[in-house]
Amino acid sequence: MKNTQLLTFNAIGDERGWLTALQTGSEIPFDVKRVYFIYGTQPGIDRGFHAHADLEQVAVCVAGSCHFVLDNGFERKTVVLNSPQQGLYMGPMIWREMTQFSTDCVLVVLASKLYDPDDYIRDLTEFVALAQGAQQ
Ligand code: TYD
Repeated sequence: MKNTQLLTFNAIGDERGWLTALQTGSEIPFDVKRVYFIYGTQPGIDRGFHAHADLEQVAVCVAGSCHFVLDNGFERKTVVLNSPQQGLYMGPMIWREMTQFSTDCVLVVLASKLYDPDDYIRDLTEFVALAQGAQQ
């Protein structure tokens, strides 16, 4: 799906365990301005249900697992994140719903901009109209 990509990160392992490093310009295709974590998600809770007009993000499930349901206004797909060596890149105008959080899920999200509530599109009907309109 355009504007989404599953990234694979290097894991540096030795007898002590594993380390994965993310750097702007190599693993992360934008300047990281903000990092937030989603954790302690209660059973049966889904999150997200929004798109961003102008924000790039990479989500990494550093513990446990969760599902991302992605929608570009035309089609949907589900991506399962369950490894610290995988990241989900989401560019602008991708609707996301996060579901199926395991109780131990820790989701780290790297973002290209500071928090801006005005960048959110929280209505699915409005999002689909905007996304489809942009293609005409
Ligand atoms: P929200 O965007 O609703 O989370 P979700 O990803 O599930 O849609 O964010 C929850 C709360 O956290 C809301 O009050 C806004 C706040 N928040 C920040 O203050 N800074 C941030 O970077 C983010 C992502 C959220």
